[in-house]
Amino acid sequence: MDDAAALRLGMGAYSGAVRPVGASGSGAAGETMLLWALGQPAAQRHNAFVHHAAHSLALDACGRRLSLLQSPSSMATPGVTGAVVWDSAFVLAKFLEHAVDSGRLDLRGARALELGAGCGLAGCVAALLGADVLLTDLPDRLKLLRKNVDLNVGGDARGSAQVAELVWGDEPDPELVDPPLQFVLGSDVIYSEEAVDDLLVTLKQLAGPHTTIILAGELRNDVVLECFLEAAMADFQVGCIEQEQWHPDFRSRRVALFILVKKPPLASQSDVPLPHFVMTHTR
Ligand SMILES: C[S@@+](CC[C@H](N)C(=O)[O-])C[C@H]1O[C@@H](n2cnc3c(N)ncnc32)[C@H](O)[C@@H]1O
Repeated sequence: MDDAAALRLGMGAYSGAVRPVGASGSGAAGETMLLWALGQPAAQRHNAFVHHAAHSLALDACGRRLSLLQSPSSMATPGVTGAVVWDSAFVLAKFLEHAVDSGRLDLRGARALELGAGCGLAGCVAALLGADVLLTDLPDRLKLLRKNVDLNVGGDARGSAQVAELVWGDEPDPELVDPPLQFVLGSDVIYSEEAVDDLLVTLKQLAGPHTTIILAGELRNDVVLECFLEAAMADFQVGCIEQEQWHPDFRSRRVALFILVKKPPLASQSDVPLPHFVMTHTR
């Protein structure tokens, strides 16, 4: 069976079609090869939805016009990446809206956390869709993040949004995971080989047996993605949500959407029902 052909219906709290990563035994290397060989990300338009020199970006979502403040000058500081919005944030935010509108996802009343939120687009949209979201990032990123949350998630939002510091690899405050999180979201957080280990430590700390992790990754560097997927597959079932499931106006072959759920402890894996596979050809 080849990876491009097998779709599974649903993973975690998402009931749409998901392509299991590594189902054919080709693992992380096979997945990155598939994404780069079939998608040809480098040939696609870079920054298709965003404009990094602008001080604010607009996006229509959830029946309103969102306004995302950016700090283009901060990007000159080495290591600062969250001062502007990245394409994968648009993809993830509009995917969430589309999946909710299509009945494949329900965020109402769900506890959610966004990792490396930057300007906070995905987390704000999740809150407008009904989730109670904690948007997190490094301490020096929180001022801009708070401004964007205040600007976009008002009192009439279906859910709520709060901002907190969370540094990957650090022990998270116990109240972050109690009660357990139903969703962990992240856009463009798989971008540096050095940060992959800490990111995975945090994902493992935050995820419980009923947590669905949805990550939108920019396909810039196959080595970084392969390194992330290989390590993630030790503890998580990993699926790829194909472009057909995304919002039709926000598709890009430079972005991939992954969904992760924690593997059950080894002793109970034999009790888990086999996934429902639908044989289909996606291309
Ligand atoms: C490429 S930006 C993406 C920002 C935003 N999610 C987006 O898609 O527009 C990566 C984000 O991860 C955050 N980040 C990087 N390393 C981190 C770490 N060790 N702990 C917490 N956040 C981190 C950065 O501050 C930044 O906001």
